[in-house]
Amino acid sequence: MAPGTPPRRVFYLTTPIYYVNATPHLGHAYSTIVADTMCRYRRLAGDEVFFLTGTDEHGDKIAQAAAKAGETPQGYTDRISATFRAQWGALGITYDDFIRTTEPRHAGVVQAVLKRLHDAGEIYFGEYGGPYCYGCERFYTEKELVDGRCPQHGTEPTFLKEPNYFFRMSRYQEWLVGHIEANPDFIRPERYRNEVLGMLRDPLQDLSISRPKTRLQWGIPLPFDQNFVTYVWFDALLNYVSALGWPDGPRFQTFWPYAQHLIAKDILKPHAIYWPTMLKAAGIPLYRHLNVHGYWTLAGGKISKSVGKVVEALKVTETYGRDAFRYFVLREMPFGLDASFSEEALVERLNADLANDLGNFVSRTVAMLTSFARGVVPEAGPLGPAETAIEDGLTRMLRTVHAAMEEFAFQRALVAVWEWIAALNRYVDAQAPWALAKDPAQAGRLATVLYTLAEALRVLGSLLDPFLPDSAAAIRRQLGLGGATRLPDLEPWGRVAAGTRVEKAAALFPRVEAPRAAAPAPRARSEAAPPWITIEEFRRLDLRVAEVLEAEPVPKSKKLLKLTVKLGDETRTLVAGIAEHYRPEALRGRKVVVVANLEPATLMGVESNGMVLAGSEGDTLALLTLDRDLPPGAKVR
Ligand code: MSP
Repeated sequence: MAPGTPPRRVFYLTTPIYYVNATPHLGHAYSTIVADTMCRYRRLAGDEVFFLTGTDEHGDKIAQAAAKAGETPQGYTDRISATFRAQWGALGITYDDFIRTTEPRHAGVVQAVLKRLHDAGEIYFGEYGGPYCYGCERFYTEKELVDGRCPQHGTEPTFLKEPNYFFRMSRYQEWLVGHIEANPDFIRPERYRNEVLGMLRDPLQDLSISRPKTRLQWGIPLPFDQNFVTYVWFDALLNYVSALGWPDGPRFQTFWPYAQHLIAKDILKPHAIYWPTMLKAAGIPLYRHLNVHGYWTLAGGKISKSVGKVVEALKVTETYGRDAFRYFVLREMPFGLDASFSEEALVERLNADLANDLGNFVSRTVAMLTSFARGVVPEAGPLGPAETAIEDGLTRMLRTVHAAMEEFAFQRALVAVWEWIAALNRYVDAQAPWALAKDPAQAGRLATVLYTLAEALRVLGSLLDPFLPDSAAAIRRQLGLGGATRLPDLEPWGRVAAGTRVEKAAALFPRVEAPRAAAPAPRARSEAAPPWITIEEFRRLDLRVAEVLEAEPVPKSKKLLKLTVKLGDETRTLVAGIAEHYRPEALRGRKVVVVANLEPATLMGVESNGMVLAGSEGDTLALLTLDRDLPPGAKVR
């Protein structure tokens, strides 16, 4: 290792292994995309990464689904497992291994662990009766049921009583509470850690780990009693170590000490309680972190085949592209909380963040380099304060992104990147290279500005790679760059070589029209809506683009800001009730839309000559701004 090189970190991340009783849907895709983004990010950071996904193929549910499809369980699981693999291929998922619980390499490990636990007296034979949900493949306690129904599926559980083998899980209750308390980020975000500690306030039962063959054959036989097969959760959880070649495989040695799991809240209990106690009893070190995300809902309902909703949400990747889908799910869901999926919301983000902010920045930068520098990155002159601000902004942004990614906070990471992109767009507007290009005396300044933009493009082409892999590659191609630059090498500023040729390409994200469902209903107006107006009445409004030159609080007012705006050649003062939503410094330089012919009014002693337009819903207020640049005074119609 070269002196001063930080040690390479190791990172092992797993997704849940998905049941093959249904084909992949949005929920599965989300977990897998999250894991893929994380693994791409860690590879870009220089870590040694192992990314595992796969399918969970035993148990009642699968046997029933195969019977229903008129197929053998093996034929059925082969077919559905392949659809998961194909879907991940189509989404560009970069997993290192795909494990199936029907593979001999897995079954062998399950039997070896069972034998070890049985020999150690951790497993005993007994009888248990209780409410059982086939959808979840588990017994519930009466307390966990909601109105006597399964909290996940809303179905009535079946009362089952049968002899079975039990794992002495109850032994480990105190130890587990101690471990969770001593390692605050063992389960994260915190809400799920608290949920698990809550579960552990009640006495922990022993875990039934077998099913009699008289009832179910589709499972891994217990090594010590051929009349039973292994309970599907006991089987499935072990995939995380079987895929690495437990106990002696070199991958197990390298990666297991760094294991992190990713799941949604629906399978918190097996991962936070069964799995650590199983590991502890088997003498295998625990995983490091359990990262738990929330649930996607569709039109307010749960997305799951077993509750009867066929989900077509994944289809949108074909319509809008996989980067747009990926960006949307990462940006929209705060990690750990639930979020709602809609095509309209996706289109909105696509147009605003991708087509407008990112796409425009890339295309205008390449277009300006082409028009004003014959397609070649010029040599930068001395950097001015505007350039230093961009450079400092990058350092700050990278710090935020790194910290957010440590905690799977994708939304926070993306917000930080997009703030920097917004600053870049403002930099272009403020420096106005098109104006500099008209003045030969400004050639040096023009070169510095164009260089700065090319350098920003270089950074985005690598930094965006984990989040928008296709678009990042397209950005790099425009700069003639192949692979992404490692994160530690993104700085210092100034790495793009003067003389680099840029290549114009198609827009990264063409704007799309709102999906049909979002279009307003044609004629009928509800009674509560204001009456129709004619186009002539609308034309009486003089709506204009205005540039905010200055913004300041109105003394003694919490709500009002005094704005000085430029409207064509004229400068005006207006008062706007937006002080609780925008800081004055955030408004300077922005282009807004104003009603220019509203009769003047005096508010808190300040004369207002027009009105700024904004939309609001609840506590959120948003100013109407432009999605591409127009000069102040331009008419809005
Ligand atoms: N086979 C078990 C997991 C065994 S892991 C050792 C299983 N499979 S599943 O097919 O039901 O997948 C559940 C997982 O799929 C969730 O934990 C989550 O990762 C993902 N999702 C399924 N529906 C989801 C949503 N509606 N929203 C977000 N993710 C969801 O449980």
